[in-house]
Amino acid sequence: MPRSMQRLVPLLFCAILAAATSPCLAQNRANGELIAKTWCAGCHDIDGISPPFGRSDAIPSFPAVANMSSTTAASLRVFLSTPHARMPDYNLTQREIADVSEYILSLKK
Ligand code: HEC
Repeated sequence: MPRSMQRLVPLLFCAILAAATSPCLAQNRANGELIAKTWCAGCHDIDGISPPFGRSDAIPSFPAVANMSSTTAASLRVFLSTPHARMPDYNLTQREIADVSEYILSLKK
């Protein structure tokens, strides 16, 4: 098998496994939660449980974001891929964006 294809094998494996049992998805979510705790919790209430830091009511909590009808994986990707005036640009990788989006979406009730 060519080297370039060999690198795809773990990805494919994960995709197939995710479709079957979704442990890979669970891992993405855990990584997303870590990113949220590390980078986002200073401003956002990231789980609706954590005590407030110096947050303002003008900053939506992640459960609130998750429950907005306009919120989808695609809308989160667009939002997090573009700079915002009142939010720092963390230059998240596509992978980090996908993980943190998955975490946010998992908070939907
Ligand atoms: C310095 C404070 C700050 C940090 C840190 C921060 N945000 Fe925000 N975020 C904001 C503010 C303020 C808004 C509201 C922006 C607006 O209304 O224009 C916002 C809005 C959002 C929204 C959009 C909600 C909507 O109305 O659609 C999402 C999603 C979001 N943030 C995700 C994140 C993620 C993910 C992180 C961590 C990687 C993060 N934010 C870190 C301040 C912050």
